[in-house]
Formats: sequence, C-alpha cells, structure tokens
Amino acid sequence: MKHVLITGASKGLGLDLVQIFLKNEWIVWGISRSTTPELDILIKEYPRQMNWRSFDLGEPEKVREMIFKDFVDIKVPLSGFVNNAAIAYDDIITNLQVGPLENMYKVNVFTPMIISKYVIRNMLYHRIPGSIVHISSISAHTGYKGLAMYASTKGALEAFSKNTAREWGVKGIRSNCVVAGFMETDMSAVLSDDQKGRIYNRTALKKATSINSVAESVYFLHTEKAASITGQNLHVDSGTI
Ligand SMILES: NC(=O)c1ccc[n+]([C@@H]2O[C@H](COP(=O)([O-])OP(=O)(O)OC[C@H]3O[C@@H](n4cnc5c(N)ncnc54)[C@H](OP(=O)(O)O)[C@@H]3O)[C@@H](O)[C@H]2O)c1
Repeated sequence: MKHVLITGASKGLGLDLVQIFLKNEWIVWGISRSTTPELDILIKEYPRQMNWRSFDLGEPEKVREMIFKDFVDIKVPLSGFVNNAAIAYDDIITNLQVGPLENMYKVNVFTPMIISKYVIRNMLYHRIPGSIVHISSISAHTGYKGLAMYASTKGALEAFSKNTAREWGVKGIRSNCVVAGFMETDMSAVLSDDQKGRIYNRTALKKATSINSVAESVYFLHTEKAASITGQNLHVDSGTI
C-alpha cells in the first residue's frame, strides 16, 4: 500500500481527497486543526489506513517535530503529498493589514514549503519517485476583487511547484498544481448568491467547479497514468476562459 500526506483533511476538497485515496487502498496521513463528524466516520471505517493529526499550519517552525518526528516518521515511505489546506484573507488592497497577511502566508505558503522539504527528503531516503500536488486557485490567473492577497499565495505555490519539478525530477519526483475554480465549500460560503452567480458566469460551463472533479484530478496525478506529467498547472475550473 502507498502512503500519502494530505493537509486540510477534515472537510471540503480535503475530505473528498481522503475518501478517494482510501478507496484506492492508499494509507492516508491527514492533517487539520480539528476533526469533523465526516472525518471521524472515515477514521472508524478505515482503522488501518486512516491516520489523523491535529496541527496548526500557522506554525511552520513546528513542522519537523509535530509532523515528521511524532506522526509521519522516517519509517513511513511517502509516495504522495497533497498541499490542500489554505485560508483566504479577502479584502481590498487599500485595507491590507500585516497580521492577517503574515498568518495567511504561513498557512498557505511557508508551512507547505517546509513540509515539501521533509516530504522530498523522505522520498529520497526511500528512493520513491513520488508525486507532490499543490492546490492553486483560478484567482491567481484571472483577477477577482478582494482576492489579491490570497491569489498571491497561490502564485507563490505555482512558482515553487515548477521549481520543485526542475530541481528533483532527476530523482523521479514530480510536482504539479491543480488550479481549482470556485467550489461550494466552507471557504466560498461567505459569498452571496449574486457574487457566486457573477463568478459562475465567467466560466464556460456556467456553474461551480465540482469538488469531486478536482479531487479525482489530484488523485490521477498520483498514479502511473501521470508518470510523465510534472511542472504543470492543471486547470479544473469549469472552463474559466
Ligand atoms: N472553495 C473554493 O472555491 C476554492 C477555489 C479554488 C481553490 N481552492 C483551494 O482549495 C483548497 C481546499 O479549500 P476548501 O474550499 O476545501 O477549504 P475549506 O472547506 O475551508 O477547508 C480547509 C481545510 O484546511 C484546514 N485548515 C485551514 N486552516 C488550517 C490551519 N491553520 N492548520 C491546519 N489546517 C487548516 C481546515 O481544517 P481546520 O479548520 O480544522 O484546521 C480544512 O480541513 C485550498 O487550497 C483552497 O485555497 C478553493
């Protein structure tokens, strides 16, 4: 059985990802600050495959101790990492404050970069040609009012991913981004129907992006079928063109 580390495992896209990897007989190492009834059911249903740890990604300096010493130790041979958890600090640029910006960068960028460091070290140690997928957002490609700060964190991840692919491809390690469109999750629940309508109108399909379509695309990038795909951004966004 292969092992994958997934952040933001408790709800939204992360929960769907966990389900897909479990059904495909992977061992999942999930992280979020808290659990949910849906995740608790999976922990009970898959006792030998599902592992979960509470960790706040806003604390990059604790990654080694809390994740890679106490949880996914070096005996666990990682074949995959999905950097899924993120927060959105949305406001117009003229209201920008350092505190929330710094916290969002810790959660969305700094900690995922530090986790990537240990994931790559693990893959090298076990000589595994593993797969890394960062979840990006369509907002990094088409502007949305109020999302400049959030979108900039996704732009940073896309650059990091491409460079990871270049740096470690020689060892067979692949890194890609899945660029998601607007999905109906807690993150987008703050939007009014009117705002959502305007966003969906900018898509070719005129509707929300399916959470499952995004999650299956992430899973695909962890399979042999995607063996030659690296350094790419795969857009799963209802055709935001
Ligand atoms: N929803 C959209 O429309 C949309 C569009 C494009 C891209 N995306 C991206 O898709 C990914 C998943 O988003 P989603 O919509 O599924 O979000 P969500 O429903 O808000 O879920 C976010 C997940 O991340 C975890 N998380 C948040 N802050 C954390 C922290 N400080 N430490 C540890 N875990 C934390 C949450 O668990 P806890 O709260 O328990 O920690 C939860 O499991 C994100 O990267 C997001 O940027 C979303």
